[in-house]
Amino acid sequence: MKSLKNLKNWKYQKLLKNNHYNFKRNYVLKHLPSAFITNAYKSISSWKNYKVTPLLSLDKLKKNLKFNNIFYKDESKRFHLKSFKALGGAYAVERISKGKKNIVISSATAGNHGRSVAWGAKRLNLKCKIFVSQYVSQTRVREIEKFGAEVIRVKGNYENSLEECKRLSKKNNWQIVQDVSTKNYKYIPQLTMAGYSIIIKEISKQTNHYITHIFVQAGVGGLAAGVVAGVAKYFKKIPKIIVVEPDRADCVLQSIKTNKLKKIRIKKESIMGGMSCNEMSFVPWQILKKTSDYCVSVTDNNVAKMTAMLKDKKLSKVSITGSECATPGVIALIGLANNLKARKLLDLKEDSNILVIGCEGNADVKFYKQLLSKGRK
Ligand SMILES: Cc1ncc(COP(=O)(O)O)c(C=O)c1O
Repeated sequence: MKSLKNLKNWKYQKLLKNNHYNFKRNYVLKHLPSAFITNAYKSISSWKNYKVTPLLSLDKLKKNLKFNNIFYKDESKRFHLKSFKALGGAYAVERISKGKKNIVISSATAGNHGRSVAWGAKRLNLKCKIFVSQYVSQTRVREIEKFGAEVIRVKGNYENSLEECKRLSKKNNWQIVQDVSTKNYKYIPQLTMAGYSIIIKEISKQTNHYITHIFVQAGVGGLAAGVVAGVAKYFKKIPKIIVVEPDRADCVLQSIKTNKLKKIRIKKESIMGGMSCNEMSFVPWQILKKTSDYCVSVTDNNVAKMTAMLKDKKLSKVSITGSECATPGVIALIGLANNLKARKLLDLKEDSNILVIGCEGNADVKFYKQLLSKGRK
């Protein structure tokens, strides 16, 4: 346990209580209908190679922080795609193609979503065009190309790649599959979130403990909203929902604070690339504004260290492959547990059963290796 002594110095960055919290199952299931959730589970669980991802125990950390359980849902094992995103885009592709073989799927992505869409198209033998900005790494591009998709690089940022995707898709009659919703674009993102809700369906069968706290990371909020919808449908008791973000991209925290969907300015990108988002998706905003109890932000400082700790069995008996986006939940938990006031506020106690979502493995192998060696220094 000696190696965990240093954790005492870990801190979170910001903590915000949601003054508009009012968790109602019906409200959540109005924004992500129950039938979507049921259908997603029915379809995805019948796919070839479907396997429930492991619910691991961070048993060394739980002893150190004095909690009853800290569960880690290991999405690095999701369909060999190494991320929860495998559940979203690929499922949306299946639903919207409705068995047709002559359609072309398109999407703009920062990486993981596009991989899922490309994989979903390949499963169904559909052509696929994926648009990426100049900032998406070549490793991520290759991962997408592995599934037979054509990758189109667009100068500028994610928004530029989305614009180009829309322009060419309209011109060529390609079917766009985005995971980010707006007021007028809800159905396909709702399908992706319904896919993510499977995570909670599985957990409801993997443990008899009532989960008391869920730490879920957010970029645009799709994963968090899918998790909340799963909770509304499958959990008997509603746990505290704690949304975790990089401090450099805290668009959920800022939106909850002002009770308005807020676009923020990112001055410097976080190394948690999948979460470096400046504005929430519309449906997740509708859901999270009423259902997240707390928002917490963390810096990038301990991301590499956490990656190494997970791999080197410092927190658990088994070695865990969790890359940058898999770390902030655990980092936030440690920071909050170190602060007596925060511990009390969040009701983090010796009988707490905490869940963190290990949302990705080494999806970008090269970057993961760099993180590991930095974290081991
Ligand atoms: C690995 C990973 N984790 C978390 C997120 C955040 O998910 P969301 O944008 O749905 O909130 C992303 C988004 O791309 C991601 O790729």
